[in-house]
Amino acid sequence: MSIDSGRRAPVPSPESLDPAEHMGVDELRDLQLRRLQATLRHAYEHVPHYRRSFEAAGVHPDDCRELADLARFPMTSKADLRENYPFGMFAVPQEHIRRVHASSGTTGRPVVVGYTQGDLDTWATVMARSIRAAGGRPGDRVHVAYGYGLFTGGLGAHYGAERLGCTVIPVSGGMTPRQAQLITDFTPRVIMVTPSYMLAVIDELEKQGVDPRATSLQVGIFGAEPWTEQMRREIEERLDIDAVDIYGLSEVMGPGVAQECAETKDGLHVWEDHFLPEVVDPLTGEVLPDGEEGELLFTTLTKEGMPVIRYRTRDLTRLLPGTARPGMRRMQKVTGRTDDMIILRGVNLFPTQIEEAVLRADGLSPHFRLVLTTQGRLDRLIVEVEARPDCPAERRGPAAAEVAGAVKDTVGVTVEVMVVDPETLPRSVGKLQRLLDQRQRA
Ligand code: DLL
Repeated sequence: MSIDSGRRAPVPSPESLDPAEHMGVDELRDLQLRRLQATLRHAYEHVPHYRRSFEAAGVHPDDCRELADLARFPMTSKADLRENYPFGMFAVPQEHIRRVHASSGTTGRPVVVGYTQGDLDTWATVMARSIRAAGGRPGDRVHVAYGYGLFTGGLGAHYGAERLGCTVIPVSGGMTPRQAQLITDFTPRVIMVTPSYMLAVIDELEKQGVDPRATSLQVGIFGAEPWTEQMRREIEERLDIDAVDIYGLSEVMGPGVAQECAETKDGLHVWEDHFLPEVVDPLTGEVLPDGEEGELLFTTLTKEGMPVIRYRTRDLTRLLPGTARPGMRRMQKVTGRTDDMIILRGVNLFPTQIEEAVLRADGLSPHFRLVLTTQGRLDRLIVEVEARPDCPAERRGPAAAEVAGAVKDTVGVTVEVMVVDPETLPRSVGKLQRLLDQRQRA
């Protein structure tokens, strides 16, 4: 679905695109097969984990004669990467690894990923491609407010913007008043940040007496957490920009695995010359046809330092045909992760479903959190949501009832909604943690 908002970015000229971006499907599938065969061999020969798992499944890289044969190979999970902590999944000697990143494991060991010079080059290429698809152009000033460090957001965005020929403003996350100040003073055209932190920066601009719609920003490239069409509309209206979605994960590369094009805003084109997607049934592991929703898997096609084979992202989406880049399939905006799903009295619920309901109700801000508690034997979900500063007191009750009603109608479960004062809920500076689980465990 393309929505009628934002600034309507110009379509990039065909000669500015990478050749792979306008490859025909047949040519792309040939390239993918050759790269897949080489990757399977590389992983089997250099990573003991893959040799063992392929042998246990009775497959050998030579068994991959067509792309569909990939389904015979075993999937790789986060647990596999953790078991090989820190460097056991690397496929090249350590002296060829130029950089490591790590994903923020909230529990247990983090997952460590390693990049060769060639991998860093590929990453910068796909990130530059992503920024261009989002509407960025050489010469633009790009404000990067994704965190710098072991998280892939900051440095991934940084090198991609440099590769495209932009001027990078490497602000990183945090120090919100300074973010607002730098937007005013350095007049960037593009901002790259998590959507939840963008909201905090918009609030701060207003606090400083700046009209967010009057800033120099025209393009926002938002990802690292799920966000909805309603959130897109909120940000586009408040900032008068084109807000587009960027997807990626450390295990596969970082940001820049898939990118939404500004001219269509209809889901994210997977850069399939480097990353091969599959969607499987999360319970059975069976490969689903394009168009059906399930868990997204990726196999890297060009990574040297740490190839991943059929990596289970836990993200839920579906694959759709290409549009703005006809040869490359799109993935629909991620609705949630299998592990973010709340099972409330037997009903599956995702935070994005609450976000949609909250943003549809007049008077409510996009700042909300979900508090899960127990009452007797039953789980109880409280949606705490801030009123907008201009929301009249008498509007709060009806707004709360609208959200509860919408959740009941669309999801089929009862939640309680508490409208709280503006600026009373915690803000995130990076990835937002929506759920506060206060259930007592037996
Ligand atoms: O979040 C990489 C990234 C940085 C992507 C900046 C985009 C922008 P990780 O910390 O390893 O890497 O987390 C990866 O974040 O599996 C998804 O669950 C979630 N995620 C990333 N992008 C999106 C998105 C970075 N656009 C995990 N929509 C992924 C929904 C996203 N979820």
